[in-house]
Amino acid sequence: MIYDYIIIGTGIAGLNAARLIPADKKVLVLCKKSPWDCNTFWAQGGIATAVDDVDIPVHIQDTMTAGVNYNDKEAVELLSKKSLKAVKNIIDAGLKFDLNDKGELAYTKEAAHSRSRILHADGDATGRMIHVFLLEQCNHEMATNAVVNDLLIEDGICYGVQFFTSETEQRIVYAHNTIIASGGIGSLYRYHTNSTAIAGEIQGLIAHKGLKLKDMEMMQFHPTVVKGTHFARKPLLSEALRGEGAHIVDENGYRFLKDYHKDEELAPRDVVSRSIFDYHKKTGLGVFLSLDMFTKKYFMKRFPNIYSNLKDLGYDLPAEKVPISPAFHYAMGGIETSLDAKVKGIKNLYAVGEVACSGVHGANRLASNSLLEGLVFSQIAVETSLKENFKISDENYTKNIKSYTRNQEIDKKIKNNLRKIMWKAASIVRDTKELEDALFEIEEYLQKDVGRLLFLRLLTAKAIIQSAINRKESMGAHFIRNKS
Ligand code: SIN
Repeated sequence: MIYDYIIIGTGIAGLNAARLIPADKKVLVLCKKSPWDCNTFWAQGGIATAVDDVDIPVHIQDTMTAGVNYNDKEAVELLSKKSLKAVKNIIDAGLKFDLNDKGELAYTKEAAHSRSRILHADGDATGRMIHVFLLEQCNHEMATNAVVNDLLIEDGICYGVQFFTSETEQRIVYAHNTIIASGGIGSLYRYHTNSTAIAGEIQGLIAHKGLKLKDMEMMQFHPTVVKGTHFARKPLLSEALRGEGAHIVDENGYRFLKDYHKDEELAPRDVVSRSIFDYHKKTGLGVFLSLDMFTKKYFMKRFPNIYSNLKDLGYDLPAEKVPISPAFHYAMGGIETSLDAKVKGIKNLYAVGEVACSGVHGANRLASNSLLEGLVFSQIAVETSLKENFKISDENYTKNIKSYTRNQEIDKKIKNNLRKIMWKAASIVRDTKELEDALFEIEEYLQKDVGRLLFLRLLTAKAIIQSAINRKESMGAHFIRNKS
């Protein structure tokens, strides 16, 4: 049987594509683990959108400025112009964003936005609310624990997907269209804010197929995660907190960001992360998020999930300062796509959301543009594929089915080492020598008899490191300390 669509991933991009595909199409949605294991689920702050037609050029300009003008201007224009309708469409379908006292949509502000234009849901659980909503709308067939290990690509056509269904078993499915929406690369890093299921295997697979990854050196670190918890996935303290007045201070209460950027807490994310890193390194002082400008009543209502998470960790909010540090958050780089959301060079393969590099984010993503990108570009992928109505035919099935070993004995140790290597070398501040050492180590690991999944992760890590080495000058999220 041939599906009309295979969708890989259950974040906003994958599930919104599923929602928009007509009900008479045969669709299979693949989840690496459970449908909850995606980054959308963890998104707090909200979804950015142009507020009205007048705001479109301003939103475009803010996105370009945060992205150091390295963005693809056409992609940014598309994102912003389509934002109004895409957001209206999901609201009309029943998604409930928070309203203000007048019963109108409540927009908040985040760093580097020149006005309040971020919609939120259940206060600070926007991602979870969107995810639950989209999951409820999804009536298509879904396969859990389906870990993609190959794409069946021949002569510029994608015939389908091969995936592990267990430690030893594999399955192949065929489709007229495949949409990759598998998210970023968080678990390649020692500390991150992502779902632990997200580790960038598909980006590695794309590179292995000789297709293009783009801007892989552009990795974003969120400035404010709770420091001190020992898990790899760090609790996020949404940028919306700073957008509404929270301050970053040192242990003496000094707001040191004023020494780094005129916009202080509301400077672009790369600037704030780097400033915290630099200040802590220079002074040895601890860095905190101060929330005591909020009343307890307001804080509990506006940020109920952050309040309860931090309460569980023992913090008395909003009175007590919370120790923070930056952690890996988001991949601006990914699979190179064109404006119609297609993977460049393949007729019927699409990539949307964080896994893709459409160019919208440039060298540093503007806060809350990620959910918007997922929403808008998944819609573009569905519209393009419906219009083109491309069909693979039975005779053209690929015959090159391969048998892979999922994991090997040595994988666990290498995976852990890889996280440390990435954290050190492909970090907030980079050093050419460290990057070259990292590349050497990754290449050594690639010579070993590792499992298929680790092999693909290593290829993604290699692409990040290699791109960072190739970019000799600092730009946005890629900050290089020296040149060799
Ligand atoms: C946050 O709430 O700070 C995260 C929003 C984003 O990643 O854009």
